[in-house]
Amino acid sequence: MRPVQLTETVLRDANQSLIATRMPFEAFAPILPTLDRAGYYSLECWGGATFDACLRYLDEDPWERLRRIRKACPNTKLQMLLRGQNLLGYKHYPDDAVRLFVKKSIENGIDILRIFDALNDIRNLEVAIDETLKNGAVASGAICFTHSPIHDAEHFVRYAKQLESRGVQTICIKDMAGIMSPKEGYDLVRALKETVKTPIVIHTHATTGLGFMTLLKCVEAGADVIDTAISCFSGGTAQPATETMAYVLRQYGYDVPLQDAVCREINEFFKPVRADALKSGLLNPVVMGTQPEALIDQIPGGMLSNLVAQLTAQKKLDQLDAVLEETPRVRKDLGYPPLVTPMSQMVGVQATSNVLAGERYKNISKEVKSYIRGEYGRAPGKIDPALQAAVLGDAAPLTGRFADTLPPAVEAARAALGGKASDEDVLSYIAFPAQAEAFFAKREEKKKHTFTYTVRKVEEDA
Ligand code: CO
Repeated sequence: MRPVQLTETVLRDANQSLIATRMPFEAFAPILPTLDRAGYYSLECWGGATFDACLRYLDEDPWERLRRIRKACPNTKLQMLLRGQNLLGYKHYPDDAVRLFVKKSIENGIDILRIFDALNDIRNLEVAIDETLKNGAVASGAICFTHSPIHDAEHFVRYAKQLESRGVQTICIKDMAGIMSPKEGYDLVRALKETVKTPIVIHTHATTGLGFMTLLKCVEAGADVIDTAISCFSGGTAQPATETMAYVLRQYGYDVPLQDAVCREINEFFKPVRADALKSGLLNPVVMGTQPEALIDQIPGGMLSNLVAQLTAQKKLDQLDAVLEETPRVRKDLGYPPLVTPMSQMVGVQATSNVLAGERYKNISKEVKSYIRGEYGRAPGKIDPALQAAVLGDAAPLTGRFADTLPPAVEAARAALGGKASDEDVLSYIAFPAQAEAFFAKREEKKKHTFTYTVRKVEEDA
């Protein structure tokens, strides 16, 4: 029977979607050797928000985390999520930074890079794909799935062909908001299977309740790998459950190469982790529920919580409904960008500003201006002409690739750190300068303490 493989997301996406990536390395370290024995296609464990959360909240070196996972899981492929030319941040980086980041990720233990661009603009993936292939890792090109008048199957298939021609070894349909229905998933996978030869990976979220059904229908249509989360970290804004999907797929006769007893062990391990997160309030039961609203307002869970936080901070939560109505209008004005980082933040902030100012585009954010100038890539659809004129005046938008206009960043960053920093530190600094600097300072402090302690201990021994 046809094999279907599973990627486990508990360390990255489920951790990010349910508890804002606050699981420290120590919390999951003991179960890593077990995860390594389960028979997963891959462990998604790095990238996205893990890098930021490690530096900002967990006082962890993200590179060290990766190396430790690698050491504990020698047999399973480690996977990361990369925002193409944005790396792990919210803006475009020059090519030297992208190339070094990809190279160092692979050197430190990554086997598979899932690379996406919020606008599905192939030019923003080319360098990352090229460098991944050069370093002998697997490049997985991701298609950001969204609903809009221009995002039909034909649009996605055209993009898939571009990805395949750049040499990606797998193509992932990335449904970050969990809005791809079983029918849409089935039709899209069928269309892809007729056009491209690379294996198809499905990434969705259980947010709207569609996820389990969508994964099943995608497999029926020929999908080769699906993303799931171990059951006690599954559902809600995370992925559908690993064990449940394995059970269903086997009943339909698919060969799922997963060790059930090992999965049970993994789930037992994470139960108290989840219980602690619930008790501390880190895990909000709301995110575990089913929220079909996203099918109508098209706003992904993470973006909604950001909007609520923004409005609460400004004591304007009563304007939430108005902002939710404005959001799809702003998205249309901007040519229907998929609502994924950094576009979701950009559209959300602009919609909020339009409502709170009482006048549309009275204030246009710096990011939206850059976007309209073409600095994030090509808009999927047509940008509203009046808005475009308001930003550009008589100037023409950039039609080339924005990264080509950026000066190299790596050596400048190394110099800013005193010239002797490791490549990994330089990259942390390029990605998140303030957080990285604060982290480096704390790490130095710790080293000093350890040193004094060692010296004293030696004296005592003597
Ligand atoms: Co996701």
